[in-house]
Amino acid sequence: MMLFIASVAGFSFASIALATPFHLNTRQNASSPCALVSASAAAQTAAAVPTVPAQLAYDCITSVPFNKSAALSLLDAIVPYFRWQSTTAFLKDPPEEYIEKIQDAVDVWGGLESIKSKVEGSSYANEFEFGWALYRLLQSTHDGHFVFIPDVIGTVFNWARPIPLVSVSEDGKALPKPYVYPDVLASSLGNASFTPSAISTINGQNAKEYLENWAQYGSLQDRDALYNNVFYELAVVSLGPSGAGMGSFTGGGRGRWVSTNRQFLCQLDLILTIPTKVYPGPTTELGFENGTTTTYNNYAKVLVSFAGVTDGESLYKKCTPAPGYPPPIFKESHNLIGGYYLEGDYSDVAVLSVPSFVSLDSAEIPFQQVSEQFLAAARAAGKKKLIVDVSANGGGTILQGYDLYKQLFPALIGYAAGDRFRAFESTNIIGKKFSNVAEGLPRVLETSNDTLLELEYDVVSSVFNYQTDMTTDGKNFPDWPAKFGPVHQHGDNYTNLFRWNLSDILTPLNSGGIYVHGYSNITNSTQPFPAKDVVVVTDGYCASTCTIFSELMRQRAGVKYISLGGRSKPGITQAVGGVKGTNNFPWDYIQYLAQYTVTNISTAAEGAELNATELGQYWSNVPFDRMAIGSAINVNFRDGIRDGDDTNTPLQFVYEPADCRILYTKEMTVDVTAIWKAVADSAWGATNRCVAGDLGGYGKRELRRGFREKRWEDRALERRMEVWRRGLSVKDYPLDVFTDPRQTLNGNGIMYP
Ligand SMILES: *[C@@H]1O[C@H](CO)[C@@H](O)[C@H](O)[C@H]1NC(C)=O
Ligand SMILES: *[C@@H]1O[C@H](CO)[C@@H](O)[C@H](O)[C@H]1NC(C)=O
Ligand SMILES: *[C@@H]1O[C@H](CO)[C@@H](O)[C@H](O)[C@H]1NC(C)=O
Ligand SMILES: *[C@@H]1O[C@H](CO)[C@@H](O)[C@H](O)[C@H]1NC(C)=O
Ligand SMILES: *[C@@H]1O[C@H](CO)[C@@H](O)[C@H](O)[C@H]1NC(C)=O
Ligand SMILES: *[C@@H]1O[C@H](CO)[C@@H](O)[C@H](O)[C@H]1NC(C)=O
Ligand SMILES: *[C@@H]1O[C@H](CO)[C@@H](O)[C@H](O)[C@H]1NC(C)=O
Ligand SMILES: *[C@@H]1O[C@H](CO)[C@@H](O)[C@H](O)[C@H]1NC(C)=O
Ligand SMILES: *[C@@H]1O[C@H](CO)[C@@H](O)[C@H](O)[C@H]1NC(C)=O
Ligand SMILES: *[C@@H]1O[C@H](CO)[C@@H](O)[C@H](O)[C@H]1NC(C)=O
Ligand SMILES: *[C@@H]1O[C@H](CO)[C@@H](O)[C@H](O)[C@H]1NC(C)=O
Repeated sequence: MMLFIASVAGFSFASIALATPFHLNTRQNASSPCALVSASAAAQTAAAVPTVPAQLAYDCITSVPFNKSAALSLLDAIVPYFRWQSTTAFLKDPPEEYIEKIQDAVDVWGGLESIKSKVEGSSYANEFEFGWALYRLLQSTHDGHFVFIPDVIGTVFNWARPIPLVSVSEDGKALPKPYVYPDVLASSLGNASFTPSAISTINGQNAKEYLENWAQYGSLQDRDALYNNVFYELAVVSLGPSGAGMGSFTGGGRGRWVSTNRQFLCQLDLILTIPTKVYPGPTTELGFENGTTTTYNNYAKVLVSFAGVTDGESLYKKCTPAPGYPPPIFKESHNLIGGYYLEGDYSDVAVLSVPSFVSLDSAEIPFQQVSEQFLAAARAAGKKKLIVDVSANGGGTILQGYDLYKQLFPALIGYAAGDRFRAFESTNIIGKKFSNVAEGLPRVLETSNDTLLELEYDVVSSVFNYQTDMTTDGKNFPDWPAKFGPVHQHGDNYTNLFRWNLSDILTPLNSGGIYVHGYSNITNSTQPFPAKDVVVVTDGYCASTCTIFSELMRQRAGVKYISLGGRSKPGITQAVGGVKGTNNFPWDYIQYLAQYTVTNISTAAEGAELNATELGQYWSNVPFDRMAIGSAINVNFRDGIRDGDDTNTPLQFVYEPADCRILYTKEMTVDVTAIWKAVADSAWGATNRCVAGDLGGYGKRELRRGFREKRWEDRALERRMEVWRRGLSVKDYPLDVFTDPRQTLNGNGIMYP
């Protein structure tokens, strides 16, 4: 992926035609929309990323003529990759409950066919219209692992609105209403003389309906999680570079961004987002309950000129502030994981905040260390209760999810859902070849033979070697056909179910360097808290590896899950609202697998034979040339199937209500400890904040007040928290963001929305 990003470093607006088969007409006619964009961008020398009015950007991008031959070759070139998407049969014909409570059915192959016939009939008015149709086809699956963003949609502009919103309940019981976030900030932290008024209409429509519709442009599947993702949220903001920005209403949703505020210059993100790809119209008119109406001008960020920011990575490494988060006890430097204590009446509560399982800059080892150190410290400090907050967690390194679960519950089984992938010609040929090559090699991690070490990485530790993984009942597969199957189901073919071999000596090759607690050389862990003293809270934005972790926590440990926020409707919501596929594959990895099989591990004669099969279809670079710069390009490769589910339904299509739903309040949008206290109260305290569901099985905290003698550490923490809270200031909360594409997230179970 870096290859494609690196090749565009010197991009300037006028030379946008570099890799794309289209040109933005900036030169011939000085009053054409693109020429006006170009002139305006050129004049903004002081800005890291220039902006232009949304309407002008829209007029420019929709003036790009449709290129039929280029469209046809793109549609042909993406077909081999679509075959790797594990869920197309279920998307076309999902379970009834999925349609009723989650999303509509989507016929991916049928949709591709109808785009193709429109292309053949030259029925697209311009390139944008074509790109949008293709983009929407994938986005409408609401599978955060199934992503292709065409260049015309994501390379040139990101659209944005100038203000983020929040959705909060007045008292934690009344249904939430949308507010302008700077109003809430000012009234909470500034000396504003006004009481913020809720938004009742947007562009003349009922505000909640408008926002629910807008939310549907997101990549999560759960509608309440999608709704939360419209709004500003501290957990998301804490992630800076790898988070989802300021909420999809303002357009920072899972975007690539750098704040204009110098203090936040270190926050840049890498992946293009669905909501910033949606043209919001020229203006946004908000009608408030107090009768006032305000109209905001929408704008577009001009992505192809990045004068000013030359080295995203070095900026990114400097700092990642987490506004609204208290001083940590332990924290990974990018805020991927952090441990916190609460003070006063809550001094028996420890909080492990895990907004990501993602691997950035080889963060796996520090990530594991933070959880180890914090859990040990919390026990040593006499903490009795643990809140795990996985809000904003779009996943990351799969085995990191297993590891955290095993740190919490070392004695429990390290498996909750079996994996499988589509069984078809490409996966079969690659599997046969990899298995065959691996049979001639030892399974070793330590070797001074570099050739062998590379083969351990590329082949021996691969899922395409039948010796990797085990059957769901913990046995080795005897050969490749035993793993491959195929199993016919739901009109499609899948491999047999398999599970990770967590004892595998090669685990570090699949985990970014760690072994999983409870296996190999880490067998001395003790369970830090009883299950009844652990709860997990989420904003629904729990995807990919986070859903693997959650399946283990809920199905094996019986830990209760609390969902935050949601649509302005009564009733329970889902806690886990993001993609539940258990592994994404980038398309360039798929291309590499095919080419590597043909050229690197086969003799010339064998290679020629293999290249005459489906493997011969992975040589075109058209999909990579036509993807938006810096964007993700993925399929969902593995399904997760719950242990014991005889219907073999991928978890992606299973509805799972939370145990308790808590609404956001204004305070929770500026001080994250307000969330954790509401959770502690509902789980173990006197005040139940659940508006739906309950945590009935949980015992009360033994002593609500003064659960023990206050020690000097407790008093010191109280003082620290007081100082921190007093110091909270409106200017600490970034509100305006810009983009930079030069960062990539790693992780084999991560949602790229
Ligand atoms: C220049 O472009 C504008 C907008 O596309 C168009 O209305 C106008 O006719 C063009 N002028 C010439 C001289 O081509
Ligand atoms: C259309 O795309 C093809 C590549 O498929 C390119 O060779 C051609 O120049 C493009 N046509 C126009 C008018 O830009
Ligand atoms: C409070 O209001 C005064 C006068 O309007 C202003 O100068 C000051 O910056 C404000 N303080 C904060 C924290 O907003
Ligand atoms: C009405 O509420 C909005 C949003 O909080 C605020 O900006 C505006 O000043 C208020 N208008 C009046 C007249 O109070
Ligand atoms: C290194 O490993 C490769 C692959 O197993 C093998 O072919 C080669 O002989 C080994 N080299 C040495 C010096 O042992
Ligand atoms: C499933 O496999 C069978 C042969 O085993 C094949 O006939 C059928 O076309 C396959 N189905 C799909 C959807 O690939
Ligand atoms: C798992 O990995 C270990 C260590 O590499 C190996 O000994 C074992 O045979 C593998 N399979 C199973 C089913 O444990
Ligand atoms: C476990 O093994 C890994 C890989 O060899 C090593 O880096 C790590 O230090 C070992 N841990 C312990 C506790 O021995
Ligand atoms: C487990 O063993 C390792 C290595 O001997 C040690 O560093 C670590 O502190 C031990 N952990 C516990 C919880 O005892
Ligand atoms: C595979 O072979 C190609 C062509 O010989 C070579 O350029 C490439 O480096 C090889 N890749 C690996 C991973 O060995
Ligand atoms: C494999 O076949 C494709 C066309 O199907 C061709 O472009 C490519 O060069 C071939 N690769 C090799 C190594 O023969």
